[in-house]
Amino acid sequence: MSSHKRPEHQAPPEVFYNDTEAQKYSSNSRMMEIQSKMSERAIELLNLPPDEPSLLLDIGCGSGLSGETATELGHYWVGLDISSSMLDVAIDREVEGGMILADAGQGLCFKPGTFDGVISVSAIQWLCYSNSRAQNPAKRLYAFFSTLYSAMRHGTRAVFQLYPENPSQLELITLQATRAGFSGGVVIDYPESTKAKKIFLCLFCGVTAPQMPRGLGAADSASAHVAYSSERLTYKQLRGKSVKKSREWIIEKKKRAKAPKPNTKYTGRKRRPKF
Ligand SMILES: C[S@@+](CC[C@H](N)C(=O)[O-])C[C@H]1O[C@@H](n2cnc3c(N)ncnc32)[C@H](O)[C@@H]1O
Repeated sequence: MSSHKRPEHQAPPEVFYNDTEAQKYSSNSRMMEIQSKMSERAIELLNLPPDEPSLLLDIGCGSGLSGETATELGHYWVGLDISSSMLDVAIDREVEGGMILADAGQGLCFKPGTFDGVISVSAIQWLCYSNSRAQNPAKRLYAFFSTLYSAMRHGTRAVFQLYPENPSQLELITLQATRAGFSGGVVIDYPESTKAKKIFLCLFCGVTAPQMPRGLGAADSASAHVAYSSERLTYKQLRGKSVKKSREWIIEKKKRAKAPKPNTKYTGRKRRPKF
């Protein structure tokens, strides 16, 4: 996906996913099929107990495609989304889950230990973008992951299919997830294929040395999952690392730096002598 075409560059999610965009989700059968397949894979990676219904949370549930897959697989779900247009489409489509209009970046407010698993399909990368001066992606990701951690039952998993724009975004997301207490890593399906390649971040709640699932269609086990490559930070190194040292934080800080006021010393304004 070329960077200028990314929806994340066009508008904040609640603006981008307006009525027109939301309608596309219930009219484009190819896209619906792709979202459903990715949702199915995310639920598979949750490794839920067989033959019993689980209660799932769907972050960025949109028009309910991912939730519908959960229903088909016999699970109950609650969805959360920032776009009222997307949720309206979900309601029109009469999906089964309960839905909440909320911004994941502001943190979640569920009772501790509520969910048996969490999925998110094509949504979490939105939290890497700042849409106002007040929005700090690192802080928003931390607020999200720390509240998510407490909403999950001990020993359960959260699986995020995502489209990071670059490796730094994936690093920022995993850094904040780790700071919030999660362990885990990245599973890559079909890493060799440009079209079929899919990235899943698998997070474990309350599990210290998780056995990472294997990615599909990988020629060797090294490309099937990435704990974190050597040029990136490992979980151990990430622990305790200040957000303020991250590349994103510095770039964000630079963006926010105010231009000098017209009456500062840079304008040559005469100053009173210092005594
Ligand atoms: C590509 S759509 C995917 C929808 C659904 N998961 C699916 O597979 O059909 C991404 C969704 O993420 C939601 N989203 C983006 N940022 C969000 C945020 N900060 N909080 C909650 N939802 C968000 C958008 O509103 C949108 O509905």
